[in-house]
Amino acid sequence: MERLDKVLANLGYGTRKEVKVLVKKGAVEINGVQAKNSDVKVDTNEDIIKVNGETINYRKFIYLMMNKPAGVVSATFDNYDETVIDLLDPEEQIFEPFPVGRLDKDTVGLLLLTNDGELNHKLISPKYHVDKVYYAEIDKPVDDKDVKCFEKGIVLDDGYKTMPGKLEILKATEHGSEVYVTIQEGKFHQVKRMFESLGKKVVFLKRISFGGIILDEDLEEGQYREISEDELLVLKKEKNV
Ligand code: URA
Repeated sequence: MERLDKVLANLGYGTRKEVKVLVKKGAVEINGVQAKNSDVKVDTNEDIIKVNGETINYRKFIYLMMNKPAGVVSATFDNYDETVIDLLDPEEQIFEPFPVGRLDKDTVGLLLLTNDGELNHKLISPKYHVDKVYYAEIDKPVDDKDVKCFEKGIVLDDGYKTMPGKLEILKATEHGSEVYVTIQEGKFHQVKRMFESLGKKVVFLKRISFGGIILDEDLEEGQYREISEDELLVLKKEKNV
């Protein structure tokens, strides 16, 4: 059970004070009866709440997929840079979502945003072995020796040995390479540092899949959409891909 004013404020009907005014005006109905006080408790699963005659669609959690553009930081607040939250409309910001893990400022691609702390924890903990797939462009030729190094795990500049990763070569020339990288951890600059340890540099990085869900290519960089129920089941590992 939750307070009516909290439920309506969370849905963007105004501040608690504004919701109180709305209730006093007689604009809110609970199960067909006009609400008199904004502090009454409601059952958001059972009660039918109407505002100005329209039934509200209550939900606690929001799950968004964004195609993150370069130049924007994966944080909820930053003193200097634009954040991924700044790219959201107020109707999504009201749910106070946060990014699930981080992509570097210059990395583009799939970033999930949610206010579901439990799912966030499961998705970012290496314990749960959540696959993250990246498309990367590398400044040098990449070969089978590099694939083997990824398979074994790579020692980074700080001495940390990564979990095994998968490297697939799409194209390798003297001038550079295109690869897919699959890892299950999310250490700071991990993909870039794995290649650095092999003497190579990542010149472009895009995440294309996370936890079994794939970046919707209809999303331009900077655009986002809610994930579907099927995608949510995949993320929660309640549905196989
Ligand atoms: N690895 C990186 O180096 N950067 C990212 O943004 C994500 C993974």
